Amino acid sequence: MREIFLQDDGPSGRITCPLGLVPAPGQFLLASRPGSDDPLPVPVFKAADSAGGFIAAAPLPESWLPGTTLNLRGPLGHGFSLPKACSRLALVSLGAAPARLLALLPQALMQNASVVLVSDFIPADLPSAVEVRPPADLPEVQQWSDFLAADLPREQLSGLRKLLGVSQETPFPAGQALVRVPMPCGALAECGVCAVSVKRGWKLACKDGPVFDLSELG
Ligand code: FES
Repeated sequence: MREIFLQDDGPSGRITCPLGLVPAPGQFLLASRPGSDDPLPVPVFKAADSAGGFIAAAPLPESWLPGTTLNLRGPLGHGFSLPKACSRLALVSLGAAPARLLALLPQALMQNASVVLVSDFIPADLPSAVEVRPPADLPEVQQWSDFLAADLPREQLSGLRKLLGVSQETPFPAGQALVRVPMPCGALAECGVCAVSVKRGWKLACKDGPVFDLSELG
């Protein structure tokens, strides 16, 4: 760890590592302190690029301090695939700060997409080009968007249709969701703790996700 920053939802930080370890938006690393008695490795997501590594999204463990050495495994899982033709991007963060979604901003802004962030948390350093709307506006924003990238806990998947304002008969809009679940083994032990219910059975977030197409989810 190079630096720690205090955010609304806990510490985030700058991690230095070889370029090949930097996770793409939505992918993750499993991180642990060598020789520590921490119970489990922690999934770490990128919030932004940084020279010689990346900025890791909050919340990181409070025991990680500047100078802490970490064992890193990854990048793991499937991240977001923002279509090159996307011109109206909705970023939807439910129940947490949107840091994991903000990793998509460089690509979105580079392809001149308009971006609306739906979240209760407004990051201090958000580019002025990004419009912020409250969660109550989600149905309107999803109709406006041509791609929706969401970040939500597994418990909210069953209510996603209602939150988006999409009826039971209507397919989900084009988009993907990062499903937040504990991922203690990163598929090494096939523990099943990260299982996510999809249209046709169950999938493992650590291996098949944690980013899923909305069409897979319902
Ligand atoms: S975290 Fe153990 S199978 Fe996914």
